[in-house]
Amino acid sequence: MREIWQESIRAHESPLVGRAVERARELPLASLREAGFYRDRGKYFLNISYPSLQAMSEVSAAGIYPPAASGTGRRVALYVHMPFCTAECYYCHYYKKFGQSSGAVDTYLGAIDRELELYQRQFGGLEAVSVYVGGGTPSYLNPDQIDRLLGIIKAHTSIQKGAEVCFEMHPESTTADRVSVLVGHGVNRVSIGVESFEDRLLKAENRRHTAQEAVAAFERVRGGGIANVNLDLIYGLRGQDLSGWEYNLDRIAVLQPTSATMYYLRLKTGTPEYKLWQADPKSFPSDEELMLMHIMSFEKMEGQLGYTQSPVDWFIRDPSFFHTYQDYNWRRSDETPLLGVGASAYSAIDGWQYYNINDTGRYQVALSEARLPIWRGEHLPPEERMRRTVMLGIKMGIDRSVFRTTYGVDVVDAFESMWQRLSDLGLVVVTDQMVDLTYTGKLFADEVGQVFYSAAMKKRMEAVDPHLISTTWPQFNR
Ligand SMILES: C[S@@+](CC[C@H](N)C(=O)[O-])C[C@H]1O[C@@H](n2cnc3c(N)ncnc32)[C@H](O)[C@@H]1O
Ligand code: SF4
Repeated sequence: MREIWQESIRAHESPLVGRAVERARELPLASLREAGFYRDRGKYFLNISYPSLQAMSEVSAAGIYPPAASGTGRRVALYVHMPFCTAECYYCHYYKKFGQSSGAVDTYLGAIDRELELYQRQFGGLEAVSVYVGGGTPSYLNPDQIDRLLGIIKAHTSIQKGAEVCFEMHPESTTADRVSVLVGHGVNRVSIGVESFEDRLLKAENRRHTAQEAVAAFERVRGGGIANVNLDLIYGLRGQDLSGWEYNLDRIAVLQPTSATMYYLRLKTGTPEYKLWQADPKSFPSDEELMLMHIMSFEKMEGQLGYTQSPVDWFIRDPSFFHTYQDYNWRRSDETPLLGVGASAYSAIDGWQYYNINDTGRYQVALSEARLPIWRGEHLPPEERMRRTVMLGIKMGIDRSVFRTTYGVDVVDAFESMWQRLSDLGLVVVTDQMVDLTYTGKLFADEVGQVFYSAAMKKRMEAVDPHLISTTWPQFNR
C-alpha cells in the first residue's frame, strides 16, 4: 500500500495530495485492516436501514396499522419519492422510471395525494418537522406539477414553522420558473446532483449536463432566493484520478455552497457502472486512491475551507446549514418517526421499518384500492432498535442524553465492550455528552456502524450480496 502512495507523491506535486499521503501514512491502517476495518470497493455499502431491504420479508399494511386505529396526530419527518428521470446515469441504483409522460406524472401525484390522505386519517393528522422531496428527480416535474405536489403535501400535513423543506434537482431541469414555484411554497433547501465538475466524467456517466451547466443551475437557485443549496459529488468514478478529484474540491472552494455531500461510489449489481467495473476494474481508482480522495476531502473541506462534517461526508459551511432531515432519518427516528411516501420510499415508525412497493403501477393500484402500498419490512425489538440507531447515528455522533431519554439506557453502558474496542483502535471518542467518530473513524463510518449488528442480524446480512444492499431498483429484488 505504501508503495502505491509513494507513486502518488511522485506523480502529483500537489500539496493537497501530498498532505493526504502524509495523513494516510500517519494512520494505523495495517492494524485497522487486521481488525476488519478496511474499505473494500468490492464489498462496500452505505448503511441506510437495518437490515437492508433485501433481508426483509413482505409485510401487510394491516399488520402494521390495525384498521380501527386512529390518533390525535403524529409529528413526522416526511420523505416524498419522485421516481422520474430523463435517462439513466450509469452508477445510480435508486428506483426511478425514464422519460415518463406528463400524464403518468399526474397519475402518480394523485396516488401521493391518496397515500398522504390515508396516513392523515390513520394518525388523525400529520405534522412535519422536516420535509425532503427526493428521487429520482423531483425537478423532472413541470412547474405546475411541482406546485400541485407541494400543495398536496401542505393539504395533508401541517409543516412546522421554520422546518427544513428540501427539494432535489438535476441541473438539466433547474429552471428559474421551477425555482420560483419552490420559493413560493417555502422550500428552503435545494440539493443539486453535480456529481463531478469534469465534463469527460459527466459524459461517461450519461449525466446529460456539463459542469458549466451545473454551476449555472446552482447560481439560478441562489439567485432565485434559496440560499441553502447542497451540491452532491461522487468520488471513485470511472476514469477519475487524484488531480481530477482535487479539481472538484477547488471548484467547491470557489462556489462556497452552504453544504456539499461527497459520496463514495457505490457499485450495484445490474447498473451499467457495475458491469464496466467487472469488465475493467483498472479503469476505476484503486482502493488506495479512494482512501486518498476521502482524506483529500477532509483536508480541503475542513482543514482549508472551514467546513464541518455532519454527518460524515456531508460538509456544512456553518451550523445553521445542519441537514435536519438526515438527523431525523438517522439518529432520531425512534423519537420522531420517519414517514416515507411514494414508490420505494422507506419509513421507520413505532419500531417498524418498511419499504413501499418499488413499482409505480402496483403502487398506484394499492392506493386506488385505498390500501397503504407497504411492501417489505419488519418490527424491531427494543435492543435491535438501539443497534439500528447506533449504526446510523454514529455517522452524526450520538448524543448520550437524547439516547438515554429515548431508550432509557446509556449508549455507553449498552455497548460498553464495543466502544472500548473501537476506542482502543482509535475509531471513536467517548465524552460525557457524546460518542463521536475520530478523524480515522470517519474514514470507516459505515464499517464501524456494521460492528453493531446483533449476531442474528449479522447472519442475515451475510446472506445478502453486498452489491445489492442499499438499492431500491426492482431488477435487484430477490
Ligand atoms: C436521487 S439522486 C440526486 C438528484 C438528481 N436525480 C440528480 O441526479 O441530479 C441523489 C444522489 O445520490 C447519489 N448517488 C446515486 N447513486 C450513487 C452511487 N451509486 N454511488 C454514490 N452516490 C450515488 C448522487 O450523488 C445523487 O446526486
Ligand atoms: S442520479 Fe439522479 S438523474 Fe441520474 S438516474 Fe439517479 S436519480 Fe436519476
